Amino acid sequence: MTETHNRLLGRRTALKLAGGFAAFSALFPAACMTAEAKDKNGKMLVAYFSATGTTARVAKQLAEGLGADLFEIRPEKPYSRQDLDWHDKKSRSSVEMNDPNSRPAIAAKVENMGQYDTVFVGFPIWWHRSPTIISTFLESYDFSGKTIVPFATSGGSGLGKTESIFKELCPKAAVRAGRVLNGSPDKAKLAEWAKSVLR
Ligand SMILES: Cc1cc2nc3c(=O)[nH]c(=O)nc-3n(C[C@H](O)[C@H](O)[C@H](O)COP(=O)(O)O)c2cc1C
Repeated sequence: MTETHNRLLGRRTALKLAGGFAAFSALFPAACMTAEAKDKNGKMLVAYFSATGTTARVAKQLAEGLGADLFEIRPEKPYSRQDLDWHDKKSRSSVEMNDPNSRPAIAAKVENMGQYDTVFVGFPIWWHRSPTIISTFLESYDFSGKTIVPFATSGGSGLGKTESIFKELCPKAAVRAGRVLNGSPDKAKLAEWAKSVLR
């Protein structure tokens, strides 16, 4: 085989590989977005609170789609079914959500929050806003210079007052517009959403 053949073969192989990669990118945009998003937005964390599992499922999918770390905001005292009864004005959730100073304790802390540049914070909508345990979480760390993106699941409500709560509790962070992610979106859809928010 001549030198020219060798070079030609090298170029053809390179072209094939490039073509293959383009096809792969078209088929799996989320996979490609992962590296891109990581470069631009640094190390990412998906932290979530979930009382009945719905937000947990979305958070896991989002973390996988982004290649981000995952952290559960676990209450020191778990919420029972009675605690979650919004028809009962005296239930734990009703009492907490009626008290602006309520800060339910969290069982564990994120190890080295300093390593993260972007933090997605997920929760169920309670009374048209983020549960007060999310306020505990936001007050537990120094988010200066970090980007925070709220996301939620709900029975149909939007984020309500959530964005202003986040901005008030983390004045030195860049709080991006969040979204309610109902309807079990898949990894690729979630990564696409995250990309659009972080752009
Ligand atoms: C105490 C309480 C209050 C709620 N308030 C609202 C509300 O204001 N609007 C709404 O659409 N859904 C509301 N929901 C429904 C939850 O947001 C919804 O079921 C959510 O997906 C549950 O997420 P989880 O399984 O991660 O806890 C409320 C649920 C509870 C327990």
